Amino acid sequence: MKKLLYIPVNSKPENMSTSKTVGREFVNRFIARNPDYSVEELDLYNEYIPEINHRIFNGRGEPVTGQQYNSLSEEDKKAVDRINFLCEQFLSADTYVIAAPMWSSSFPSILKRYVDCVIINNKVIKVTPGDATGLLGNKERSMVYIQSSGGVYPKLFGGKFNHGVDYFHDIFKFLGVDNFEKILVEGVDKPNIGKDEAIKRAIEDVNYVVDKLSSDALIRI
Ligand SMILES: Cc1cc2nc3c(=O)[nH]c(=O)nc-3n(C[C@H](O)[C@H](O)[C@H](O)COP(=O)(O)O)c2cc1C
Repeated sequence: MKKLLYIPVNSKPENMSTSKTVGREFVNRFIARNPDYSVEELDLYNEYIPEINHRIFNGRGEPVTGQQYNSLSEEDKKAVDRINFLCEQFLSADTYVIAAPMWSSSFPSILKRYVDCVIINNKVIKVTPGDATGLLGNKERSMVYIQSSGGVYPKLFGGKFNHGVDYFHDIFKFLGVDNFEKILVEGVDKPNIGKDEAIKRAIEDVNYVVDKLSSDALIRI
């Protein structure tokens, strides 16, 4: 069974959040088209995502082990155990779906905290002197970034402020994930668009992306 890891990033309940509403539509439609998939959900605001500190990490992105682990406080041990769990969960996925609002041109900080927890050296990346390589190219993976924003991008500011989309495109490509897709729920706070219309428009993209990523439709170049 393949795995879709669904990561909603919003403290709001689903019916109040446009990013979560579109995220759920995506997951439901994707699963209906891909019966060989199961879904694992990690709702970041309802889960323990540790804050990294110097006691629990060795050098570049490696949680401590052995004697160093044994001498940690109970709280720090809990953080290391959780980071190892999150990293293994991340590695086990075939398709990632992140649904987040645009905050200050990027995304809520808890999502960055999660990224720092899972990009672990020798598991997700390999750091060598002067270089680093992503290790996720060992199987076909896809990443779907669903972003809801009050404004409309890239029309505003020539698209220069869409840092969330750019960040997840770049980092997942670097990690070795072949397929990157974005779904934008735009203009949610604009009087001439608003929530319902923004969701309606985004659902068209949901259908397009589900179609593109579904096993019966995926065309490899
Ligand atoms: C802290 C904060 C920062 C925001 N920053 C931006 C922004 O930079 N650009 C933008 O277009 N909208 C911004 N917004 C508006 C949200 O992106 C918008 O309301 C979005 O639809 C919220 O998603 P949700 O419906 O899933 O909560 C911001 C909202 C908050 C609360």
